[in-house]
Amino acid sequence: MSILFSSPSWSKYKDHFKSAFKKNKLNFSEITTDFNTESTDVEFIIYDPSSQLRDFSTFTNAKAVLNLWAGVEEIVQNKTLKKPLIRLVDEGMKQGMIEWCLAHILRHHLNTDVHVKNQDGIWRSDIVPPLASEITIGILGLGELGSAVAQSLSAIGFNINGWSQTKKNIPNVKSYFGTDSLIKVLHSAQILIVLLPLTPKTKYIINASTLKLLPKGAIILNPGRGLLINDNDLLTLLDSNHIRHATLDVFAQEPLIPSHRYWSHPKVTVTPHIAAHTRPSSSAETIAQSILKIRAGEKPRGFVSRKEFY
Ligand code: NAP
Ligand code: GLV
Repeated sequence: MSILFSSPSWSKYKDHFKSAFKKNKLNFSEITTDFNTESTDVEFIIYDPSSQLRDFSTFTNAKAVLNLWAGVEEIVQNKTLKKPLIRLVDEGMKQGMIEWCLAHILRHHLNTDVHVKNQDGIWRSDIVPPLASEITIGILGLGELGSAVAQSLSAIGFNINGWSQTKKNIPNVKSYFGTDSLIKVLHSAQILIVLLPLTPKTKYIINASTLKLLPKGAIILNPGRGLLINDNDLLTLLDSNHIRHATLDVFAQEPLIPSHRYWSHPKVTVTPHIAAHTRPSSSAETIAQSILKIRAGEKPRGFVSRKEFY
């Protein structure tokens, strides 16, 4: 049996898979990038959403599709895929997301732009930044990434309210769950991080009504998915000064077109979907371990529920 690596980026991953497979006593020569491989001979498909593969129906003996991304919104709807789908749950990705959120939160929390952008001889010692303990951050999505970010921010001293479908037990993080409690998290969120998966239930969850529930002057960070936010509503609420700033990493259409208003808006920061890239070294190790687990008849982390779309 073989392992089909379905990605245009094999050269970036190859050496990392070689060492991860060796470390985990797996046979590296089973990996192929050849699409002409007999599909009934494929045991696993390592899948990059940017690959050309769209029809999974012929991989009748595959044990699972191992997604190289955390987000599965496109592949989860693929009707030809009948095999278990595993999304990436990875330490490198978690660390990347923590660092991106931390950087952009501290930028706004400490008002660093005032000094960075104004090296003009004016001594602005009256602008004293608050302490983290004076600020409440809401995190929508307390999954693998949201909970890692929540723990890092609470370790610095921020007050954290998190929102998910099911109740969570994370030290120093207040867990809100279910549709009705969203309003409570929004009401108190001076900074809001959107780290939900894109599903039929979460699409456009950030819209005029939910944005208005945020305190005036709130900051938004979206490293989740572009379609979680209604862009026109966000622009309206930024223009009316209800929202102070939005830092956006993901967009309805990527790359974000050069003429999009987000690029030139003074209260928007665009980053090009780099919050938490898949790191070849840690993801190779994660995938090697998932293969071992599945072969042993166990469930790896990141098992996707088709019913929930994530
Ligand atoms: P995850 O572990 O599946 O966590 C998803 C969280 O969202 C869970 O806490 C889940 O609740 C909650 N949730 C889902 N639907 C909900 C609903 N309708 N109401 C309330 N809560 C809901 O996913 P993850 O690994 O943390 O990743 C989250 C997302 O980040 C990915 O789907 C992807 O879109 C995005 N991402 C972006 C980047 C980037 O570079 N920008 C990188 C990686 C991932 P339960 O825990 O109760 O199930
Ligand atoms: C990146 O956005 C991912 O979903 O892994």
